[in-house]
Amino acid sequence: MGEIIHEMITEKQITEKITEMAAQINKDYEGKEIHLICILKGSVFFCCELAKRLSVPVTIDFMAVSSYGDSTESQGRLVVKKDLDEPVDGLHCIVVEDIVDTGSTLSLTKKMLLARNPASLKLCTLLDKPARRETEIEAEYTGFVIPDKFVAGYGLDYAQKYRNLPYIGEVEFIED
Ligand code: IMP
Ligand code: MG
Repeated sequence: MGEIIHEMITEKQITEKITEMAAQINKDYEGKEIHLICILKGSVFFCCELAKRLSVPVTIDFMAVSSYGDSTESQGRLVVKKDLDEPVDGLHCIVVEDIVDTGSTLSLTKKMLLARNPASLKLCTLLDKPARRETEIEAEYTGFVIPDKFVAGYGLDYAQKYRNLPYIGEVEFIED
C-alpha cells in the first residue's frame, strides 16, 4: 500500500496561526516566565516556531509519551518513553502537542504533570480532531480544528515519514 499527501493547511496559514497563538500567550503570561513542555516527536516543529514568537522568558523541556488502550482502564495507560530532564514544580508550564485525537495522551500527560506541582499548567495544540474524542479534554490554545482525516507533515508522521513537510496534508491510502 502506498499513500498520497493532499495539502490541507499551507505553510503560510500555519505560520500566521502560530503568530496569533503566540500573541495570545504573550498577553496571557505578561510578567511571567513560561516553561514549554514539547511532546516528542510530532510537536517539535510547532514548538520551535511558537517559542521563537514568545516575548516573555521561555525555558523548554522535552518528553516522549504514548497512550495505549487498555480495556480495564477507561483512559488507557501512559507510557513515558523519555521523561523531562528537569522538575516542573513552581513553573508555569504549557504542554505543546501536535494533535489532540481521542484525547487520551494529553489527558494522561496532564494528570501526570499536575502531580508534580507546577505553578500552573495549560495545554496548547496545533491541531484538534474533536470527532474522535473519547476523553473529555480541551486545550486552552488550539490552532486548527480539523475533520476526522489522518494528516501528516509539520512534525506529524505516517509510519515515521513526512514529518519534514512544511505544510499539513491529508494522507490518502492507495491499495496496490
Ligand atoms: P490521542 O491520544 O488519541 O489524542 O492521540 C494523540 C497522538 O496520536 C498524537 O500526539 C499523534 O502522535 C497521534 N495522531 C493522532 N491523529 C493523528 C494524525 O492524523 N496524524 C498523525 N498522528 C496522529
Ligand atoms: Mg504526538
